[in-house]
Amino acid sequence: MSSRCSEVRILIVGSGGREHALAHRCVVEGHHVIVAPGSDGIAADARCVAVQTSEHERLVELARAERVDLVVIGPEQPLVDGLADRLRAAGVLTVGPSAAAARLEGSKADAKAFMARHGIPTAASQTVHSLADGLAALAVFSAPPVIKASGLAAGKGVTVPESFAEAEAALRDCLEGHVFGAAGATVVLEERLDGEEVSLLVLTDGTRALTFEPAQDHKRLLDGDLGPNTGGMGAYAPAPLLDSIRRERALVEIVEPTLAGLRAEGRPFVGVLFVGLMIDAGGAARVIEYNCRLGDPEAQPILFGARGEVVPHLLAASRGVLVPGHLAGRAAATVVMASSGYPRASGAAVPITGLDAAAAAEDVKIFHAGTRLRDGQWWATGGRVLGVCARGARLEEALARAYSACDQISFTGSQARRDIGARARG
Ligand code: AMP
Ligand code: GLY
Repeated sequence: MSSRCSEVRILIVGSGGREHALAHRCVVEGHHVIVAPGSDGIAADARCVAVQTSEHERLVELARAERVDLVVIGPEQPLVDGLADRLRAAGVLTVGPSAAAARLEGSKADAKAFMARHGIPTAASQTVHSLADGLAALAVFSAPPVIKASGLAAGKGVTVPESFAEAEAALRDCLEGHVFGAAGATVVLEERLDGEEVSLLVLTDGTRALTFEPAQDHKRLLDGDLGPNTGGMGAYAPAPLLDSIRRERALVEIVEPTLAGLRAEGRPFVGVLFVGLMIDAGGAARVIEYNCRLGDPEAQPILFGARGEVVPHLLAASRGVLVPGHLAGRAAATVVMASSGYPRASGAAVPITGLDAAAAAEDVKIFHAGTRLRDGQWWATGGRVLGVCARGARLEEALARAYSACDQISFTGSQARRDIGARARG
């Protein structure tokens, strides 16, 4: 179903750059969009209503009161907490998995056990619940394993250690220091994989899948993949690493068995399944992580670059009648501008200049994540402030547009990588 559809009333749940990109896309396609809670930046494109993502009952009421046709849930926490179940129980069509299916992201231990049960290629691992078991498991690895807090930790729960001493310290942080609270009470120790990472996102009705253009995120803070891990400093799509042949192979070897496994376990996945893949030198893919939603910033280039309409597919997935296929996109890239101190701390709000001029350029769109508007002045309020997104006929063109927009925007202490997309350019 890719023909034009009449106006759909859509409620988007969330407030970040991903939700801004989604809202913008739906508005551009001619639909009526409400965002809860949204943000000042999103309010420039769509109506925002001050209901928080944790207020499930109020969100159900809002969906009813606004007579929405479709709800799309952006972030993982409300999905893991069962918001999609509540909405479906109230008869509201929803894009987003049930709590049971979202456990693939909410519990890395669950995801590893699931992959083992269904023969889905991934790194060897051990799951532990105590420091003593963790230290015993560590001794079994021949090289320092990756240490992962099992629960949701806002992208900060994974350590890729260079030594056994560092691995042990990460285990102690989780199981003795409780730095991730309950999310770190269970820990996965995982064989470290070599290769290149790519994110394959698919929209699914539980059975059929529509692939989006594969994307590559840049998780480290600094150029050259140095510095601490972040939520993502930029992304581009399509990533040439996963060409159409490899994409098809990942669909058959990983996505389809995942969807079949979830169905067999009575927890079909309706929504966007995000598979983080490591591709080895021979082109084979293994799963590094599952997410139960669109990625941020990946969603920005994927949605801004998409050539066809997206909303008819969202509606079809929520109804269980998705037509499988691939949604092709133009080349697109997002460069994240983060506040000083990110990812560790967030300082006082600082004024942003140059936004309007930067936003006026053709094929550029600035998605807001950490901003506020007061008396006509934009402020950077912390974290990942802006996602400066651009598209073009080729990636070089998209990147040149994104960086030229970035160069017009300034705020004290801003941090942005200068090498987004460099890997794809060779
Ligand atoms: P995750 O939150 O599971 O995606 O992990 C965050 C990052 O840690 C990933 O994007 C990878 O860069 C890295 N990572 C996670 N697991 C592994 C692994 N088994 N081998 C190598 N790197 C990994
Ligand atoms: N950018 C990675 C994520 O959304 O989890």
